[in-house]
Amino acid sequence: MTKPLESAFLPPRQAFLTPIFRELRPSEHELLQGHLLRLSSESRVKRFCSPFSVQLIEKYCRNDGQPMPIIVGAFIGDTLRGVVELRFDRSRPRNTAELAISVEDDWQDIGVGTRLMEMALRCARDNGIARLEVNFLPLNTAMRRLAWKFGANFSHQTGLTKGLFSLSDMDYAVDAGSKRPQ
Ligand SMILES: CC(C)(COP(=O)(O)OP(=O)(O)OC[C@H]1O[C@@H](n2cnc3c(N)ncnc32)[C@H](O)[C@@H]1OP(=O)(O)O)[C@@H](O)C(=O)NCCC(=O)NCCS
Repeated sequence: MTKPLESAFLPPRQAFLTPIFRELRPSEHELLQGHLLRLSSESRVKRFCSPFSVQLIEKYCRNDGQPMPIIVGAFIGDTLRGVVELRFDRSRPRNTAELAISVEDDWQDIGVGTRLMEMALRCARDNGIARLEVNFLPLNTAMRRLAWKFGANFSHQTGLTKGLFSLSDMDYAVDAGSKRPQ
């Protein structure tokens, strides 16, 4: 048991829990797979809009034949607990990207996704991305709320909702997605 005098010198618990947000170096992209495999099956379905096996996640992370994505991560301690990916498709213009975001279940709903979105939209603008979209299941209320906070316009296709971000007006990102009235 920790004695009172000893505990006075321990760092506050919060210090361990504060996420560090930063873009991943290409050599760190391999961390993505571990993060995606740690998502619960429900979060995995929401992330990929369908059930996704371990093999499919491994294939997805290999990213064969596609341009290298931009990945911004949330590290809690040494572990990558959340990511936002900006993915490019070689068959589409380079200034077009798809955003995908995931936060491990124990770390959801405490603001990690919001911080990741702020950084992702800045990154997208800094990299000359003009058209950025996110696709998610219509019942994914957390994703809908998150995209809405950052100014997405929504459209609906069969079984999917698409959010399209305007990257010309970025001021709202400064204060955590307050472009829209709450
Ligand atoms: C979507 C996701 C990334 C959100 O991340 P998060 O860290 O929980 O987001 P935040 O804590 O910043 O919350 C963002 C908003 O969603 C709301 N929210 C969070 N979890 C919610 C839930 N389960 N139901 C309803 N709203 C929710 C929050 O209240 C917040 O809105 P507010 O700022 O108006 O209060 C996370 O839920 C997740 O990883 N889901 C699984 C993967 C996924 O769905 N990806 C999207 C498709 S690519």
